[in-house]
Amino acid sequence: MSTSNSVALRAVYTDLDGTDFSAGRELLTAAGFEVSYLDSQDSETIIAGAQDASALLVGYAQITREMIERMPTVKIIALMSMGFNNVDVDAATERGIWVTTIVGAATEEVAVHALTLALSLTRGIEFSRRAVEAGQWNERDSLVQPRLSECTFGLMGLGRIGMKLAELARPLFGEIIGYDPFIPDTDETRERFVAAGVRRVDAATVRSSSDVLSLHLPLTADTAAMVDAAFLGSMKPLSYLINVSRGGLVDSSAVRDALDSGHLAGAGLDVLDVEPPLPGHPLVGHSRALITPHIAYFSGQSEAEYVRMQAQNVVSWAKRGTPDTPLVPLAAPSLSIH
Ligand SMILES: NC(=O)c1ccc[n+]([C@@H]2O[C@H](COP(=O)([O-])OP(=O)(O)OC[C@H]3O[C@@H](n4cnc5c(N)ncnc54)[C@H](O)[C@@H]3O)[C@@H](O)[C@H]2O)c1
Repeated sequence: MSTSNSVALRAVYTDLDGTDFSAGRELLTAAGFEVSYLDSQDSETIIAGAQDASALLVGYAQITREMIERMPTVKIIALMSMGFNNVDVDAATERGIWVTTIVGAATEEVAVHALTLALSLTRGIEFSRRAVEAGQWNERDSLVQPRLSECTFGLMGLGRIGMKLAELARPLFGEIIGYDPFIPDTDETRERFVAAGVRRVDAATVRSSSDVLSLHLPLTADTAAMVDAAFLGSMKPLSYLINVSRGGLVDSSAVRDALDSGHLAGAGLDVLDVEPPLPGHPLVGHSRALITPHIAYFSGQSEAEYVRMQAQNVVSWAKRGTPDTPLVPLAAPSLSIH
């Protein structure tokens, strides 16, 4: 994409929750962008701050259809996440606005985190820690811990993170099964699943047969609150639920009920429907819920990669007309920069 000297290149960061984005700022500045940081998730602040911006770089802020319509100069929305549920992607795409995500920068970290939650729960680590701290050395959990080599590990979503987790969990669990309706059934995919030791099953089977069921799919209109009371009721009794994907996939009250009734043995969650959770959240403080504060992606290396890849998407778009990792491919790089 060509840009004349008179065209202002302005990039606006919305919110980054304390992340050091100086490397991203440097990349953008070197490419000719004037960069500002709003430090806000407030919609009116973002709309006002992005009035003459061509690029919006987003952390956790919600970018709605109405906001997109009121930021007419914005041509690219660059997310600092793999998930994209905080942006109205349809509204952006309809207006020819690129939406970019961070692809694969924390696959290892997220898969390891999911496995860590699964291992902590199945080994009763939290219960034991509390017992030791309470001076109850001989206390034993009423839940009998399973032997992993006799357990089935189930994956919903066989993309990057799901498959990395399969590789990590394979030596520990008796069987790995997985469900993903969007991966075609071809010789190539069949060979890939065989090589990874994953038996592909249908949705009902992954729910009813998994001793540990881990979610690795995006939050969309189709998957929102997918894990509801009916879903949980169809899971194997005394099984464990792991969610490091997005909190909105899960109905938290239904999970609390399933834990209270003893149908679920435990829930390991890195993400919640409301982040940070409000006081009285049904799962925070529950003795069978192991919750971490949306840090599955985090390591020194991955955070730097997130910052770099987010800014690089904007720089690539400014230079070539197409970003590196667009969520939806757009037809032609025909939009002029404002
Ligand atoms: N907690 C964190 O810090 C963190 C960090 C990175 C990513 N994530 C989450 O992890 C998710 C997965 O990331 P990824 O890199 O593996 O993505 P990916 O796109 O490689 O894989 C997602 C898979 O989910 C499948 N899928 C979609 N709908 C499905 C459904 N209804 N049932 C079963 N499978 C379905 C897709 O076909 C795809 O194969 C992201 O969407 C993001 O929300 C969380």
